[in-house]
Amino acid sequence: MITYIGTPKLETERLILEKFEPGDAQKVFDHWISDERVTDNRVSAAHTAVSQTVEKVAGIVSQYEKEDFCYWAVKLKGSGELIGEIDLYDFDEETGNCEVSYSLGYRWWNQGYGTEALRAVIEFGFRHMNLHKIAAAHNTDNPASGRVMSKAGMVQEGIVRDMIRNSKDQYKDCAIYGILEGEYFSKGLSDKGYILNVKG
Ligand SMILES: CC(C)(COP(=O)(O)OP(=O)(O)OC[C@H]1O[C@@H](n2cnc3c(N)ncnc32)[C@H](O)[C@@H]1OP(=O)(O)O)[C@@H](O)C(=O)NCCC(=O)NCCS
Repeated sequence: MITYIGTPKLETERLILEKFEPGDAQKVFDHWISDERVTDNRVSAAHTAVSQTVEKVAGIVSQYEKEDFCYWAVKLKGSGELIGEIDLYDFDEETGNCEVSYSLGYRWWNQGYGTEALRAVIEFGFRHMNLHKIAAAHNTDNPASGRVMSKAGMVQEGIVRDMIRNSKDQYKDCAIYGILEGEYFSKGLSDKGYILNVKG
């Protein structure tokens, strides 16, 4: 059975993962959600007005009262700069399985932050939520995301053709990845201690 504990604050070596606040909307807009270099790799279109982001962030914040809602703002530990987001979703009670997705602002790409955030959330999912499996999918023309999944211990399970149709009406093949709880423990990932601290 999944143990839901909402969205606690997670501290890693260089990052803080914590709840969004309504006042974060402008930064979300400026840092990634209005940037097609980021959103072209996701299903939803880039925001063109900050009002869209205000609505999205308010929607996220309003769900924090639910224990089965896990949606983190990714911040740099030193400066507190908001650089991205990561969430666990589609929890299935029957199996204990769920999915993960993430985005970072372009200026913070290729510095290991995506991998650091994903490793922390995987550790959280298996150590604290008793999940059975965490899955993810990336467009095959977005190999950096697959690399992040691999570095975090996820294994590619196959490719689904035309799995999504994006906001530009383009079909995309997606590579499906997953990591099982048993693998997480047997591969020694559980010994790494990517999360330094969990609060609230
Ligand atoms: C996917 C994303 C979160 C990665 O974050 P990140 O902080 O740049 O990731 P990391 O720095 O931890 O790792 C990136 C890896 O991809 C590799 N990479 C970058 N561009 C690549 C490319 N075109 N082809 C193959 N590998 C690539 C990097 O070299 C690095 O691997 P390495 O450590 O072995 O060198 C970020 O690119 C992003 O937000 N993209 C847009 C949204 C998105 O794609 N979300 C995921 C949807 S599934």
